[in-house]
Amino acid sequence: MITIQLNGEARTLDVPPEMPLLWAIRQVAHLHGTKFGCGISVCGACTVHVDGVPTRACVTPVSAVEGKAVTTIEGLADPVAAAVQTAWTALSVAQCGYCQSGQVMAATALLRANAAPSDADIDAAMDGNLCRCGAYPRIRAAIHDAARRLAGGAAPDAEAPAAAPAALGPSGPASGSARSATR
Ligand code: FES
Ligand code: FES
Repeated sequence: MITIQLNGEARTLDVPPEMPLLWAIRQVAHLHGTKFGCGISVCGACTVHVDGVPTRACVTPVSAVEGKAVTTIEGLADPVAAAVQTAWTALSVAQCGYCQSGQVMAATALLRANAAPSDADIDAAMDGNLCRCGAYPRIRAAIHDAARRLAGGAAPDAEAPAAAPAALGPSGPASGSARSATR
């Protein structure tokens, strides 16, 4: 038995200690917003927050988070997260949507730490979250938009930069070079 604070609620899960946190979240707690992508800490699809820190749930044993606060996309509920999700919707960031839970988790953590990130700050913080649809320009624009909303600034961009749509493929997340080509 492992007890974690899952989205603000104490949950005791009947799982082996070595079970990846991602399986505990999806298969035992039945929260399916957190996605499995690569399983080897490369793509970021499984990103959750552990005590506020973006964490790859696919390679984190559930025993490592015993007693800690684990937040999934279902539990994001502060003004920063709300601004991110509003910006994501306003700029139609998602294409297939598979990576987006992890992207939103990473973007929210970034804006909690840095209220006005530069393009370079965004690229550095989001570098571990791959999007095979190539939505990187819209992700960057949406993070800037969320920062403006949180600062009480001007209306969001009327148009998000067009995303390169061609990186979809059957074999999983885009490679680093494919990502670079679509920024
Ligand atoms: S599924 Fe965890 S980083 Fe890809
Ligand atoms: S929107 Fe990112 S993988 Fe499709």
